[in-house]
Amino acid sequence: MKYTLNLNGQSRTVDVPADTPMLWVLRDHLDLPGTKFGCGVGQCGACTIHLNGVPTRACMTPVSTVGRMKVTTIEGLAASATALHPLQQAWTELDVAQCGYCQAGQIMTAAALLKDNPKPTDDDIDGAMAGNLCRCATYQRIREGIKRAAVIAGTKEAAK
Ligand code: FES
Ligand code: FES
Repeated sequence: MKYTLNLNGQSRTVDVPADTPMLWVLRDHLDLPGTKFGCGVGQCGACTIHLNGVPTRACMTPVSTVGRMKVTTIEGLAASATALHPLQQAWTELDVAQCGYCQAGQIMTAAALLKDNPKPTDDDIDGAMAGNLCRCATYQRIREGIKRAAVIAGTKEAAK
């Protein structure tokens, strides 16, 4: 069955069975491998994307349920192809990633947090990020990265 997705600001069509998880639509059919397969059962957060800005497990989201919702992946998070999102900038500055496998999902969850709450406390961060697991235990750097991104985003906002 054909599905036309509103993906990272573009219209993309795929021809897949209705129950195909978005994770595999993105990775196998649309050449967007930034969204990672971790557990496949909604428990780790490695596959986090945004649907209409809401962090969503792509492994648990059949393509047939997406409709015309705005789908954002790590590849489309920044304002343009040549820019970095404040989180990506902070991640680079602070060397947040270790193996890197979980980090796209971490950043997608963190981006939704910062959109709703531009100055999160440690408790806010821990609460929002609790469902994103990191086998390399980079949690402390993730928290620092989110706080740094909040500063970067605030500076950019003030300069407008
Ligand atoms: S791969 Fe989707 S939550 Fe783990
Ligand atoms: S950086 Fe290795 S799993 Fe998180």
